[in-house]
Amino acid sequence: MDHNAAFQAYETAALSAIAAATDAAGLEKVRIEFLGKKQGQLKDLQAVVGKVAADQRPAVGKLFNDVRDKVTAALEERQKLLEKPKKSLTAIDIALPGTEFKLGKRHPLTQTMEDFKDIIGRFGFTVADGPEIEDEYHNFKALNIPDDHPARDPLENFYLSTASYAAGQPLQPRLLRSQTSTVQIRVMEQQQPPIRIVSLGRVYRPDTIDATHSCMFHQMEGLMIGADVTMAQLKTVLRLFATTYLGQDVTIRFRPSFFPFTEPSVEVDMSWGKDWLEIGGAGMVDPNVLKAVGYDPEVVTGFAFGLGIERFCMRRHQIKDIRRFYENDVRFLAQF
Ligand code: DAH
Repeated sequence: MDHNAAFQAYETAALSAIAAATDAAGLEKVRIEFLGKKQGQLKDLQAVVGKVAADQRPAVGKLFNDVRDKVTAALEERQKLLEKPKKSLTAIDIALPGTEFKLGKRHPLTQTMEDFKDIIGRFGFTVADGPEIEDEYHNFKALNIPDDHPARDPLENFYLSTASYAAGQPLQPRLLRSQTSTVQIRVMEQQQPPIRIVSLGRVYRPDTIDATHSCMFHQMEGLMIGADVTMAQLKTVLRLFATTYLGQDVTIRFRPSFFPFTEPSVEVDMSWGKDWLEIGGAGMVDPNVLKAVGYDPEVVTGFAFGLGIERFCMRRHQIKDIRRFYENDVRFLAQF
């Protein structure tokens, strides 16, 4: 047999033996048979090289090395595959739990909003939505907030530059909404009483950022309109809502206050340790607001409330600094 045929025969036999090995022990036998230094097929092949004429020996020696390297590489590849049977394509056990990837989690504020919808949904409130970029009419005017009210001050709001006002529309200043009360108006424009909705989302104010203030935060707005909605119902809904989310040990306090869109108005506080923390405002919907959307205040009444979502989440999880919510530090987020 000339050396070429011998190399070819060796290679074919070695590669098919390697491919046929199904475990580490079987593969080791193949290694000794085809790559063993002291005996076996490699030794025989070496003898073939020894027999060629001296002037051909360098070229044939190189061929010998190539064949040996190829078989060695195939063997090592097969070894790796057989060492990790669970990861080979034919042996994935889809019932085993995953270990290499950690599942992500919903942001604590998202979790809180899901809980809120769940709890308030049990009182019959459905979820409505409204835009974050608003016009002055929905953010102020329809809510009975007059032109000269300090809340409309450009320094208290994020107004958009005039260049961004919608093309072809009358030039009405627009801003990032400063409160979710805007959605009260948007819902009442579209629907007739009875109404029982909440709306959860972001609001924006150019406040100085500190442990309890942010220029963007979340509110849950509530609105209930009907034939004889009362302040007693409002207080009951807010108390039940707060104790369901925070636990029976929380005390809810109502303080007389003023908002242009409610009459009478209250501010709502919750107990936190020895302190009181304001969590929102509420009241009976002002007749002027009902008139603005075409309702008859002699026929329907209603209550409204606006709650700060961050503060509920902070009390429940004992978070002392609102800025943690927006830093996206996974060491913080992974705890929820
Ligand atoms: N929109 C008010 C704010 O952001 C909160 C508020 C007060 C909402 C009274 C209401 C309400 O619906 O009735 O400060």
